Amino acid sequence: MVSLKTVRELFEPANLGGIPLTCRFVASAITPEVFGRWPSERALRFYRSLGAGGAGAVITGSFYVDRLGADESHGDQFVGFVERLSGLLKDFDCPLVVQLGHSSHRLHNVPQLMGPRGPYPHETDPYEVTQAFGRFSKKAFEAGASAVQIRCCHGSLLDSFLTMSEGLPPGLENPWDPAVMALDACLAHGPVWVKVGLGEDMPHGYGVDDGIRLGIELAKGGASLIEVTSGTFESRPPVGVLRIGVSSGESEAHLASPCRRLSETLRELGLSSHIMLSGSIRSIERSAELLEEGICSAVSMGRPFIAEPDLVNRWREDDRRPSACFSCNACLAEGVEFVTCPVMREKEENFWNLRSPD
Ligand SMILES: Cc1cc2nc3c(=O)[nH]c(=O)nc-3n(C[C@H](O)[C@H](O)[C@H](O)COP(=O)(O)O)c2cc1C
Ligand code: SF4
Repeated sequence: MVSLKTVRELFEPANLGGIPLTCRFVASAITPEVFGRWPSERALRFYRSLGAGGAGAVITGSFYVDRLGADESHGDQFVGFVERLSGLLKDFDCPLVVQLGHSSHRLHNVPQLMGPRGPYPHETDPYEVTQAFGRFSKKAFEAGASAVQIRCCHGSLLDSFLTMSEGLPPGLENPWDPAVMALDACLAHGPVWVKVGLGEDMPHGYGVDDGIRLGIELAKGGASLIEVTSGTFESRPPVGVLRIGVSSGESEAHLASPCRRLSETLRELGLSSHIMLSGSIRSIERSAELLEEGICSAVSMGRPFIAEPDLVNRWREDDRRPSACFSCNACLAEGVEFVTCPVMREKEENFWNLRSPD
């Protein structure tokens, strides 16, 4: 049984990861639309609805910092989009965290959301890549972001160095060096969060120990908050990034155990980065348990916010039932142009009412 004090703590403002969150439920990075349209007016409205709905902070979907394997429009539209979104979120005191990423040969399995397949690590110059992270970080902060988040997960370029079986490129001593260099380049401009994959669970993927080591090195490098995730879009179900069939109160927070290992190790090493757990969190009770057990100091959710952008406000206003999302992944189905939840839409449009058999 969790204490009321911890439940209250979830809903109270907290200074975490170098920025003031309005509560400890954060909207994870969601790229909400097909690659060629991103970032659109509709994406602005979507993120605004998350701030209006009570999210403690909003993290944008990935912006690629390099044209290699990515859409050029990211570069051109980036500043205007961040300026407008940070302005819109100010109405709700909701901080904006801009996710910066780099495509790779592995980050591809949802092509409509991910765009063209990107390069292998050995085809890139890690120094140039990390400088690009630095440049985008500078632009993001100038445009009003409260923090940036570096994507080191899901098979993106920075975490792909951990899977290089053919040896590291000249000049690199450790597979985590490019991620740490990118962090360093971004830190010159403001607080930096990282999103780290604790293992991939797939052939030729890296393991939990490697993911934890990556987290430790990024904490040593100055990341103020580490969001924990796992898998790639090529990991087989049910392990992939978006676990299917999560059941509230039974199979929530499947990454609690590796996340606990990371948190404990950081504490032992005296490292102060905050930990935020992502992945199949659906209820207030489970979130409070995670806090109470010292596994994390904030939680983040993706699909629950697609189903109910106002989830946190609903919870605040005493309808404390778990998220209505039951993790079917219909929102990501082939052909979807903008991510919405068909399940909730049909409920709202009353398609769930019994019809007379005529
Ligand atoms: C439609 C969609 C798009 C996503 N886009 C990104 C992204 O751009 N970057 C990223 O790191 N994670 C992305 N994610 C993963 C989420 O940030 C988050 O880690 C995941 O949804 C957490 O699991 P949950 O949906 O069970 O809460 C995406 C998830 C969804 C559903
Ligand atoms: S379609 Fe709706 S219920 Fe299914 S995973 Fe997506 S948000 Fe959740």
